[in-house]
Amino acid sequence: MSVGTNVIPLAQPVLGPEEEEAVVAVLRSGQLSLGPRVGEFEEAFAERLGVPCASAVSSGTAGLHLALRAAGVQDGDEVVTSPLSFVASANAVLFERARPVFADIDPVTLNLDPAAAAAAVGPRTKALLPVHIFGYPADLPAFEALGLPVVEDCCQSLGSVHADGTPVGGRGNPSVFGFYANKQITTGEGGMVTCGDPATKERIDSERNQGRAPDMGWLDHDRLGFNYRLSDIACAIGTVQLRRLDGMLADRARVAGWYREALAGIEGLTLPCEDGGGARRGWFVFVVQLPPGVDRDATVRALAERGIQSKPYLPAIHLMSLYRERFGHREGEFPVCEDVAARSLALPFFPAMSEGQVERVAAELRDSLGSRAA
Ligand SMILES: Cc1ncc(COP(=O)(O)O)c(C=O)c1O
Repeated sequence: MSVGTNVIPLAQPVLGPEEEEAVVAVLRSGQLSLGPRVGEFEEAFAERLGVPCASAVSSGTAGLHLALRAAGVQDGDEVVTSPLSFVASANAVLFERARPVFADIDPVTLNLDPAAAAAAVGPRTKALLPVHIFGYPADLPAFEALGLPVVEDCCQSLGSVHADGTPVGGRGNPSVFGFYANKQITTGEGGMVTCGDPATKERIDSERNQGRAPDMGWLDHDRLGFNYRLSDIACAIGTVQLRRLDGMLADRARVAGWYREALAGIEGLTLPCEDGGGARRGWFVFVVQLPPGVDRDATVRALAERGIQSKPYLPAIHLMSLYRERFGHREGEFPVCEDVAARSLALPFFPAMSEGQVERVAAELRDSLGSRAA
């Protein structure tokens, strides 16, 4: 969708001449896929996260699929995960004919609640799939203490840091990032799986490339695989984007700070939680929860009429038709998640957003909620 000049979009990537040059260089090299840019991007990414291994893949969804397979998830297994996530995290479990078992979220961080997750573990549980939602680090030590394989969905959390200073995705568990255009860095579409173990990387690298081992001949394949490769064009963009990451994260954090000031004092409006206990959010989206009883669709319409894009974000996965029909989920199962999902609204949020734009969004939101008080 093209956006008029006075419209404030929900998201906007930062792309410049360096990305253009990088793409042109790949085009001129003639090696558009399975070339040297893949390894360059992977090495830079692994170094940034302080992990030994990273595998570039075609999307976050593809990365989740391969990471779950690497964790041994198979037909009939269960994977405990969060109902407040993008649908891909649960869908990836279904790809292997395993079952996502949801547990409720923490009302402050909005991440999977470790106690609820522990209670959902049963004899068929093969793995845990916590999601660092909206860039806020999930409590990984608590999940790891349950003694099961952990796969981390870091698709929203590049740049987030755990309380002990470890980067999110840098603990050695298979951890999956996504590079869709609204993410902290983008390659258009794309993803990365980090892990601490070269054997896991070898498996992921093979399965992303039709099941081919590195020492095998052309068109010789020793296991089932997929085409989940990321092209050299995308990897070249990713390497440049990664160099810009600190700047873009700082810009996002500054925009979030403006939002906090501009939205202060609106009765009943819940803002994203502040960083706590040493953990640091890598800002991805600015999601507020509207005051109870507010008509969210009407708010979205009122903002749209004033040139401001916004979106209900995120719906509860267990209440989507596919999950209701397949697993019989109903309202009331995960009350914290359902309340958050019913009231959440993503506001425009991107690195180049100006303070004036933030103030305009805040003023219009305040106005549409009928609250003019500062
Ligand atoms: C939490 C989460 N998981 C998984 C994905 C899937 O990533 P992709 O769109 O790159 O497949 C996303 C993408 O938005 C996400 O936000």
